[in-house]
Amino acid sequence: MKQELMEQIEGYDTIRQEIEISRKFGNDFSLEKGQVAEYVNRLHPSQIKLCVSKIIEETVSTKTIRLTVVNGYLPPFQAGQYIALSVEVDKVRTGRAYSISSSPRQTGYYDITVRRVKNGRVSNFLLDEVKVGDLLQSSGPQGAFHYHPILHQKEMVCLAGGSGITPFMSMIREITDRGLQRTVHLFYGSRTLDDMIFHQELSQLSEQFATINYIPVIEDPGPEYKGKTGYITAEVIKETLGGLAAKSFFVCGPQAMYTFCLPELDKLGINKWKIKQEMFGTPVNIYEYKGWPSEIKAKDRFTVRVNGSTSFETSAGEALLVALEDNGLVVPSLCRSGECSQCRIKLVSGKVFEPEGTPVRKSDRKYGYIHACVSYPLENLEILL
Ligand SMILES: Cc1cc2nc3c(=O)[nH]c(=O)nc-3n(C[C@H](O)[C@H](O)[C@H](O)COP(=O)(O)OP(=O)(O)OC[C@H]3O[C@@H](n4cnc5c(N)ncnc54)[C@H](O)[C@@H]3O)c2cc1C
Ligand code: FES
Repeated sequence: MKQELMEQIEGYDTIRQEIEISRKFGNDFSLEKGQVAEYVNRLHPSQIKLCVSKIIEETVSTKTIRLTVVNGYLPPFQAGQYIALSVEVDKVRTGRAYSISSSPRQTGYYDITVRRVKNGRVSNFLLDEVKVGDLLQSSGPQGAFHYHPILHQKEMVCLAGGSGITPFMSMIREITDRGLQRTVHLFYGSRTLDDMIFHQELSQLSEQFATINYIPVIEDPGPEYKGKTGYITAEVIKETLGGLAAKSFFVCGPQAMYTFCLPELDKLGINKWKIKQEMFGTPVNIYEYKGWPSEIKAKDRFTVRVNGSTSFETSAGEALLVALEDNGLVVPSLCRSGECSQCRIKLVSGKVFEPEGTPVRKSDRKYGYIHACVSYPLENLEILL
């Protein structure tokens, strides 16, 4: 703006004087012009190159992979956040999210703890192929599944199933490492005792710290077992905690965990807004979801036309994102569970199935954008990437 015009703005003289005083006493950031983007990128890089520095066997089906950064610094993260690895498996470039299980206080490495999924493309690759010294490409830390001092109570009730223990492990390690005055009541559901990840460490921390209350709930523990058995039900939660007021609830694990645990929390009268959730992975057996049209079978085939040129065939039971990747078309993705909107694509024509509650923005809905990771073709489609 021209000087004469600026002088006509009410209060301009006062602002100019303040700028001069600020400069005089060292608040002049104009010298750092151009450095802000560099700083922001250091804290929130979109991509990081990581090196596998150690692999720890946790259970028969689970390993912790320790990752150090190749160049520069590891960006800081909030306990509960995840990174999205980008890998090439069987000539297909794809990605998967893994929560960081180490404490944010550990600035030298990230641990991710991976459980084998039957026939799973990436979990089997990470567990069987990856070795110390390998390089992996990853996103920076992502996600909102973490404690927030304004939104959450200092007493957290955490319900974990299977590999869903990982974000809670990071939160608990942070509390004990830093001596934070925050209490975690962790209900960890597992089929057997041998399947439980971090069981020994959690039992020890629970004995050592009054702030950690660890309650394993085992479906099939064998006759000698003296702890809680069965599932994480409303009764188990109530008899362990007594009062439920002034507590925040966090739920994490595979989809079966939600189907079971959310109605149990509902029975206890816990408001939905008090519950923070993270679903690990894409829906299993999408055709069993509420609203799936009964006339469409998972194996029904449809054609997908992309950007008005390429076409391929895929099945109704396959998420569009997976079908695109299988056909060599890489779409940016992070969570792959419908939450982050990185994989949004435009649906020009045709119909897709999306599980109830998929958080698509109103404006995206209006202009025909969908989340490819949780969209399943119900007709021939035309899309724009
Ligand atoms: C935010 C976030 C954090 C995550 N953190 C972790 C973590 O710390 N540790 C970890 O092991 N996993 C974690 N996951 C799950 C992970 O991203 C992958 O989904 C998982 O490793 C399976 O990938 P895959 O390629 O082996 O299986 P895919 O090839 O993707 O799937 C194969 C089959 O298994 C089913 N399936 C996929 N995932 C699961 C699952 N978790 N349980 C049961 N069946 C499944 C699929 O529906 C499909 O039928 C996280 C997921 C999210 C969204
Ligand atoms: S990858 Fe996050 S919404 Fe699809």
